Amino acid sequence: MRDLRIGKSAMGAAVRAAGLFFLVVQLATAGQAQSLAGKWTQPGKVLDNGEQQKWVLELRQNGSELTGTLKSLDYAVELKGTAAGTHFELFAPWQPATPFLTGDLVDGELHGMERGRRPVLAKPATAADDIPTVSYIDPPALKTVSDNGLAKTPPMGWNSWNLFAGKIDDQTVRTMADAMVSSGMKDAGYIYVNIDDTWEGVRDAQGNLQTNHKFPDMKALADYVHSKGLKLGIYSSPGPRTCAGYPASYGHEEQDARTFAGWDVDYLKYDWCSARNIYKNDALQPVYQKMGAALEATGRPIVYSLCEYGWGEVEKWGPAVGGNLWRTTGDIRDSWQSMMANVEKQVPTAPYAGPGHWNDPDMLEIGNGHMTDDEYRTHMSLWALVASPLLAGNDVRIMTPVTRSILLNKEVIAVDQDALGKQASPVRNGDLETWLKPLADGSVAVGVVNLGAAAAQVTVKASDLGLSGKVKKARDLWAHQDVKFVGGVYAATVPSHGVLLLRVSAK
Ligand code: GLA
Repeated sequence: MRDLRIGKSAMGAAVRAAGLFFLVVQLATAGQAQSLAGKWTQPGKVLDNGEQQKWVLELRQNGSELTGTLKSLDYAVELKGTAAGTHFELFAPWQPATPFLTGDLVDGELHGMERGRRPVLAKPATAADDIPTVSYIDPPALKTVSDNGLAKTPPMGWNSWNLFAGKIDDQTVRTMADAMVSSGMKDAGYIYVNIDDTWEGVRDAQGNLQTNHKFPDMKALADYVHSKGLKLGIYSSPGPRTCAGYPASYGHEEQDARTFAGWDVDYLKYDWCSARNIYKNDALQPVYQKMGAALEATGRPIVYSLCEYGWGEVEKWGPAVGGNLWRTTGDIRDSWQSMMANVEKQVPTAPYAGPGHWNDPDMLEIGNGHMTDDEYRTHMSLWALVASPLLAGNDVRIMTPVTRSILLNKEVIAVDQDALGKQASPVRNGDLETWLKPLADGSVAVGVVNLGAAAAQVTVKASDLGLSGKVKKARDLWAHQDVKFVGGVYAATVPSHGVLLLRVSAK
């Protein structure tokens, strides 16, 4: 017994000693591992051109103080933060309250969260992971790029982004082009078939930008689209990378313009995106001018679409850089709120619309399924009233009769395509918003949108329409019928989120 007791206590002492030893070893290891300094890399997805997206974080530690440089293929950011044991929090300069990166050092890896939404599992980086630094190129001195004479009325067509985003390829574009013809879209004026982001490959040894495997032969695709009586559009960015992370035109503007012209491309959407990591907003104009001049130098007529979300009052200098249209808003979503917010942001830009240069509240969502038919009719009406480009963003191969009737309403399209090129602005009265657009033949288009949750009685007074005489003809452009003003007034019921759209002429 005693022996056993002694034995037990001796064993206990040995176990305690061993435990202490392991604790000391563990603490020592933890002490060492608590240094977060070093280079860490986190892989992202593999792009369609085979490139691996990733970031590399170079962390420096001074006690509990952390500083770091995080570089990805399309941006670099200086981070600052704190370490507490194995835990770290790092903040970007533009968001001092919410961590850009947070997590813990676990078994020699960083485990955590990026911008509160993306899981992080970063491993120690090697020299092979280094991301080359992009050198700064001065924007050119300002000059005026001559008017290319295109887009006398707002461009019409189809664009791949709203529906397909990164899942667009040659075959889909071909079938879409077929459907543009068979559905009557082409005959209604929708001419451009525009490939948005994710067609890009990598540059060859001469720096020529190639397509990725989804677009085996861009020239052949352009030939196909042209054979249907349509035109082909493409997409790039003035930064080193597009919004989806693909190689873009920074430092290759002239070369890319020649590549696009060589493929017989007819339209370029040029999306600021990663240019914001290189240039401040005061460089928007010269940087857009650089591509405008490069397109002009190709000698090919190419519609130039600026996409920089309305920054820097683009409507005031868009024409000077050779632009035919410019986005005035962030990206549209297929929702009533997003659609209305985008169109209502057009007000300050209204004086700048006209033949050859258009404000662009973004592409159409009609037919994509998340708005009601009334809301889609309002969407189409408003885009026509503000003389917006009409770029369908739905699957024109499988349109429902209602979608077809909205996109192919020729009387509404005629309002959009009116030669005068005036842009309507709204007047708000309670839940009703009235938009007036003077037209080239002296008539006026008037749209009354019901923003309310219930149907509303709407009254249109001839005296409010800016017409010179009494009403000669009034037509409801959705009912496709003439209507009568009685005593200078027309009244109708408009459903919630619906629109009354009239074209009215005077005697
Ligand atoms: C930005 C643009 C969109 C689309 C995507 C593509 O978000 O505003 O219209 O072109 O980039 O990555």
